[in-house]
Amino acid sequence: MTLADPLRVVLAGAGNMGRAWGRTIEGAPDVELAGIADIDPGAAEAAAAELGRPVAVGTDAVALAASTGARAVVDVTVPAAHHPVTTDALFAGLDVLGEKPVAETVAQALSLAAASQVTGRLFMVSQSRRWNPQLFALRAMAEDLGAAGSLTTEFFRAPRFGGFREEMAHPLLVDMAIHAFDSARFVLGAEPVSAYCETHNPPWSWYAGDAAATAVFAMEGGARYTYTGSWCAPGRQTSWNGEWRLSAEKGSAHWDGDHEPVLDAEVEPTPRPPALFSGIEGSLLVFTDALRTGVPPMGEVHENVLSLAMVEAAVQSAETGRPVLLDEVLAEAHAEALRTESNPDVKDALASWPNVREVLTAATHP
Ligand SMILES: NC(=O)c1ccc[n+]([C@@H]2O[C@H](COP(=O)([O-])OP(=O)(O)OC[C@H]3O[C@@H](n4cnc5c(N)ncnc54)[C@H](O)[C@@H]3O)[C@@H](O)[C@H]2O)c1
Repeated sequence: MTLADPLRVVLAGAGNMGRAWGRTIEGAPDVELAGIADIDPGAAEAAAAELGRPVAVGTDAVALAASTGARAVVDVTVPAAHHPVTTDALFAGLDVLGEKPVAETVAQALSLAAASQVTGRLFMVSQSRRWNPQLFALRAMAEDLGAAGSLTTEFFRAPRFGGFREEMAHPLLVDMAIHAFDSARFVLGAEPVSAYCETHNPPWSWYAGDAAATAVFAMEGGARYTYTGSWCAPGRQTSWNGEWRLSAEKGSAHWDGDHEPVLDAEVEPTPRPPALFSGIEGSLLVFTDALRTGVPPMGEVHENVLSLAMVEAAVQSAETGRPVLLDEVLAEAHAEALRTESNPDVKDALASWPNVREVLTAATHP
C-alpha cells in the first residue's frame, strides 16, 4: 500500500467531536478533507461552514467518498453507528480511522475485526488519550521498574454534560473509563484476565445511572490494575487523564495526568526518543503513516478490542456482583457475533478463529 498523494478522507459524523476532527484534518499535512457526511444534513452543512471553504456534504459517507475520490473515512458518528458506518466503508474498499469506542458491543467489535480481515482494509481505532507523550514516558518508566505490582488510576470530576451521558446506566464506565483501561494495558504491556467491579450512584448525583465505580483487574503476569472514580465529585478535581501510580519491583512512578510523570526509584532511566504525537492529531498521523508503510499501527482494531472488553467485563461484574473472566466475555461476544452476523464472508472469518484472545493479540501488540 503506498500513498504518494495527500490522503483524501471523508468525515462521517459532524457532532461535537466530528467538528474537532474536521479542524484537525484541515490542519494536518498530507491529508485532505474531501467531504463531510452526517445523517443530519444540517449538521454536515454547519460543520462545513465552520471551515471557511467549500467542502462537499452528504448523508452517506461511502457515497460521498465515491463522488469525491476519497480513499478513507474518519468515523466520528455516535457509538451505535460505528458498526454499520465502518462496515460499509471497509466493504467499499475504504480504510477507516474510527473514534472510540470501537463499537457499541464487543460482539460488534469482533465483527469489525473480521470485516477488516475479509476486506484487507485498515481499521484503526482512535483512542486519543493513548497518544499522549506523558503516557509514553510512564510506560517507559514501567519498563525500567521491573515486574509490576499494582497500577492505580483515580478519576474524580464533576462535569455537567446534560444529554445522553446523564441518562446512561453506566456513564463513567462506558463513556470515560475506557480511556484509562486502554492506557493501563499500554503502560503495563499486559492484557486483562479478570474484572471485579462495584458501581454506585452517590445521593447527590445528577446522573440517572451509576456515576461512581471501582474496578479491579487481574492482568497477565499477575499485576493488579485498580480504577476508582466518580463523575459527580465536587471538590478537588483530578486531571481528565486521572492520577496514576505504578508500584513495581524496583520503585514507583507517578503521573498526575497533566505533567511529566515522576520516577521514584534508584534506577537509571533508559534513554528513549520522545513521542512526537499527541491526541487526535497523533492518531491521524499514525493512521496515515500506517497506510504509507503497510505496518499495522497501535490501535488497529484487533489490538483495541480488549479495552472495550474490559468495560463490558466491569459492567457485567457490577451487575452480577461476581468477578468476570475476560475470556468468558470474549467467548460470549464471539458466539453472539456468529449468531447475528449478516455478511457470510465475515461470518466465515469469525468461524475460522480458533481462539478469540489469540486472534486479537497476534495481529499487533503494544
Ligand atoms: N476521544 C475523545 O476524547 C472523545 C470525546 C468525545 C467524543 N468521542 C467519541 O466521538 C464519537 C462522537 O461523539 P460526539 O460527542 O461528537 O457525538 P454527537 O452526538 O455530538 O455527534 C455524533 C454525530 O453523528 C451523527 N450520526 C449518527 N449516525 C450517523 C450515521 N449513520 N452516519 C453519519 N452520521 C451519523 C449524528 O447525527 C451526530 O451529528 C463517539 O464515539 C464518542 O465516544 C471521543
